[in-house]
Amino acid sequence: MEKPQVKFYYKNVTEEVLGKEHGITKEQFKELEKKTTPLIHQLNTERKAGKVKYRDLPYQTDTVAQVKKIVAQIKGCENFVVLGIGGSALGNIALQTALNPYMYNLDEKQRKGSPRLFVLDNVDPVQMKSFFDWLGDKLDKTIINVISKSGRTAETASQFMTVCELIENKLGKDKLKDHVVATTDLKAGTLRKITDQFGFRNLEVPDGVGGRFSVLSAVGLLSAAVCGIDIDELLAGAADMDKKVSITDFYKNPAAVNAAINWHYYNRGKKISVMMPYSYSLKDLSDWYRQLWAESLGKTKDISGNDIFVGPTPVKALGATDQHSQVQLYREGPNDKLFTFLSVEQFSDDVIIGKSPDIAPELAVLSGHKMSKLINAEKTGTEYAFIASKRPSLTVAFDNVCAYTIGQFIYLFEATTSIAGMLFNINTYDQPAVELGKDATLALMGSKDYAQLAEKIKPFKEMDSNFII
Ligand code: PA5
Repeated sequence: MEKPQVKFYYKNVTEEVLGKEHGITKEQFKELEKKTTPLIHQLNTERKAGKVKYRDLPYQTDTVAQVKKIVAQIKGCENFVVLGIGGSALGNIALQTALNPYMYNLDEKQRKGSPRLFVLDNVDPVQMKSFFDWLGDKLDKTIINVISKSGRTAETASQFMTVCELIENKLGKDKLKDHVVATTDLKAGTLRKITDQFGFRNLEVPDGVGGRFSVLSAVGLLSAAVCGIDIDELLAGAADMDKKVSITDFYKNPAAVNAAINWHYYNRGKKISVMMPYSYSLKDLSDWYRQLWAESLGKTKDISGNDIFVGPTPVKALGATDQHSQVQLYREGPNDKLFTFLSVEQFSDDVIIGKSPDIAPELAVLSGHKMSKLINAEKTGTEYAFIASKRPSLTVAFDNVCAYTIGQFIYLFEATTSIAGMLFNINTYDQPAVELGKDATLALMGSKDYAQLAEKIKPFKEMDSNFII
């Protein structure tokens, strides 16, 4: 049977649809083809040389076996808690929202024997207190998956220490290792050190794969598999997309065309990139994409070290919700955005809209229709309205939302990011600007390793009363 697909549709950025000022002309497409084609070759070569490690994640049979082994060992747990942030959390959340039911955590029937999933990617004290209070008497049926390549990330480390103390106090120190699975660097780092000392079950954050490219590694796979998601299908979908994004014919390679269109518009003043899924299940993929795009492409220097201060600003929106919040701006505000709609052809479930009251015959038009028809009409309606306002849009159309198509989508956008980075001539895989904030936090918390930095921060610690109103 033919597998469901995600399709990339780009007619609504062409001159034919938008006119010359905002549409891409045939000549401009030829230029984009000329510029991008050698980069596809370059990426394929670098990948073969083992320099683009995330590209090999669809084929990691050992990791999949290890993940499944742990899933079997922890079967019967009722709560699975992921401690992680950024690339160690956003993919996990996106997979869960995409591939498990909306009421998963609340409805035992919908969970089908899998545990509730919580991904704690913040250190809000009120949120944490509420969560830990709830978890307190359920710790014996809880597994903690701490995910951190370094182990020194303040948010994850502080959550982890807190949970460990809770487990120790409640269940005893000797029980700790039954309740923790660590996902971390194979050899180095603070969490590796702790893991080895305590003998935690563990999985590897693969070397050379940055957090934001790691969702298809053990980082994202464990929580997905624990919650019943078919990780073989997820990786098979990614492998399918791997073939497509390796094609050297520009027009047949969705990552190349996607990256080229984004780069083209960025250079013409459309520096904001809005991802707008018309499906609740795809909503957190746009959050995942936001990190991928922002951390990968927002850079001060080009690869030769020249200042360029480049980077499209990714924005997440949700259809139809944000039609009633953002679309006024999107249509009548500055024409500085490129929109990427995500749409679903065949929803996995549906609802028939109820009957209209006799007193309101004007609502009869909705009555009796499938809700899937309504949300897709909203998407097409908005797309049309954008065209009327000369706003360019792309669509990633899912045949349906399943592990296979989600795998395709993730891999498509990772490869798009790689090619976009090459077009912008930057290092896509580092994030030097994130580090200062992390170090400053540790400095402010009193770390001796960052004493000098703490001195520099001192003038900014308190609010200057001259500027308080
Ligand atoms: O993409 C990234 O590299 C970051 O978002 C990291 O994933 C995040 O900062 C967490 O780092 P660590 O895994 O070391 O705790």
